[in-house]
Amino acid sequence: MQRDYKEALTEDIFKYITEASELLKLESYVIGGFVRDFLLQRKKSAKDIDIVAVGSGIKLAQKVAELLPNKPKVQIFKTYGTAMLRFEDVEIEFVGARKESYTSNSRNPEVEAGTLEEDQNRRDFTINALAISLNKSTYGAMLDPFGGIEDLKRGIIKTPLDPNVTYSDDPLRMMRAIRFATQLDFKIEQNSLDAIAKNAHRIDIITRERIVDELHKILLSTKPSKGFVLLEKTGLLKRFLPELVALKGIDEVQGQKHKDNFYHTLEVVDNISKKTDDLWLRWSALLHDIGKAPTKRFDKKIGWTFHAHEFVGSKMVYKLFKRLKMPLNDKMKYVQKLVLLSSRPVILAEEVTDSAVRRLIFDAGDDIEDLMIHCEADITTKNAKKFKQYHNNFKLVRQKIKEVEERDRVRNFQPPISGELIMETFNLKPCREIGVLKEAVKEAILEGEIKNDFEEAYQYMLVKAEDLGLKKI
Ligand code: CTP
Repeated sequence: MQRDYKEALTEDIFKYITEASELLKLESYVIGGFVRDFLLQRKKSAKDIDIVAVGSGIKLAQKVAELLPNKPKVQIFKTYGTAMLRFEDVEIEFVGARKESYTSNSRNPEVEAGTLEEDQNRRDFTINALAISLNKSTYGAMLDPFGGIEDLKRGIIKTPLDPNVTYSDDPLRMMRAIRFATQLDFKIEQNSLDAIAKNAHRIDIITRERIVDELHKILLSTKPSKGFVLLEKTGLLKRFLPELVALKGIDEVQGQKHKDNFYHTLEVVDNISKKTDDLWLRWSALLHDIGKAPTKRFDKKIGWTFHAHEFVGSKMVYKLFKRLKMPLNDKMKYVQKLVLLSSRPVILAEEVTDSAVRRLIFDAGDDIEDLMIHCEADITTKNAKKFKQYHNNFKLVRQKIKEVEERDRVRNFQPPISGELIMETFNLKPCREIGVLKEAVKEAILEGEIKNDFEEAYQYMLVKAEDLGLKKI
């Protein structure tokens, strides 16, 4: 380990920082995520480097920029006393070492200059407090006052200070603890876990955007369920995703139980994560059953029902995105659509007719493949026979989709008869009959009564128009 990180430090940028520090007569260290990821040999380690200066981080950044041949622009964030410059495709952030005191209901710290040790103290986790010297006399020395290397080896998330202090200083760190535990498959030390549970309510002072950032990182991990279980157990999840928590639990009436839809959902998310890195498809999996809590009923004859939960769920997606201040754009519409259609291929699997397949292709459009991936991930039965059977059914559905697609080309199809044509043909002003005729033609195509072509559609329109008492001019 020792030799490797020293090799990395031969990279040009560190030499420039060393030189700039010498000129300014201050000490500098590379700290935080870069050191952690480097020791773990994580690929992304070189994208973002944090440098701490014992002195002014801004001045150090400016000096480094001056020395660099391409003289990059230095971005200065005065309020935080930090500066950033880009070196090739790496963002290098400079900050002066500080001891911070936080006001109790805000994230904005009052900054006071401090020593390296004081700076390390105020960082979130022992594994993020590791620093490597960039000073000429001690170049490459590792400064690890809290046993961060040991925690990296043992896979432990632990705060340098009393966790109650670290978390209440910046409550987002509770999310970060869970996010790192999920990304790295580490264990959160018990003391820390207890402190998260105790301070969970303080997440409310954190902006939704920062929370969502962490949620995305959890959702993009190899096994997101680990993070969501921790978020739920510590009481964080209910503060920003109560719709998911509402799925937890199993009710029993007259000896009939339904499955725990929270844990089922997490299994689906893990399953889909093996097939796709697409954040929004993973979101769709996470939210596909949220309509089940508000629609849950027990019917004496048929047992537990979740009538129209897909429809209700897709409406809930909008409110949820809005509350989390996530963009209400095409991505949101995509999630809504997948939630709405999430059971359609399942119904199909029971009886695959051409017209039902055509309708599904028409409704799903280009998202049909994603929908199938979702449905396959949704199979969580522990009964091996059923598991195989459901997968086989979906294979048939996929096969049928392919056949129908090749034959009928209904994906993204625009019905061949337009409103304008109807108006011209029958000399109409805008009126209800136009919609009725258009819909009749579309239905006839999807039902397979006529082909998806202009001539057949036109003739069909003439017949239907007669039924409505319309005369061609
Ligand atoms: N840090 C902290 N508390 C926070 C955020 C960051 O103490 N709420 C410190 C940690 O030392 C962290 C460093 O600032 O390592 C850099 O933070 P950031 O870039 O957000 O995270 P990384 O640790 O680099 O990890 P990642 O890039 O995966 O987010």
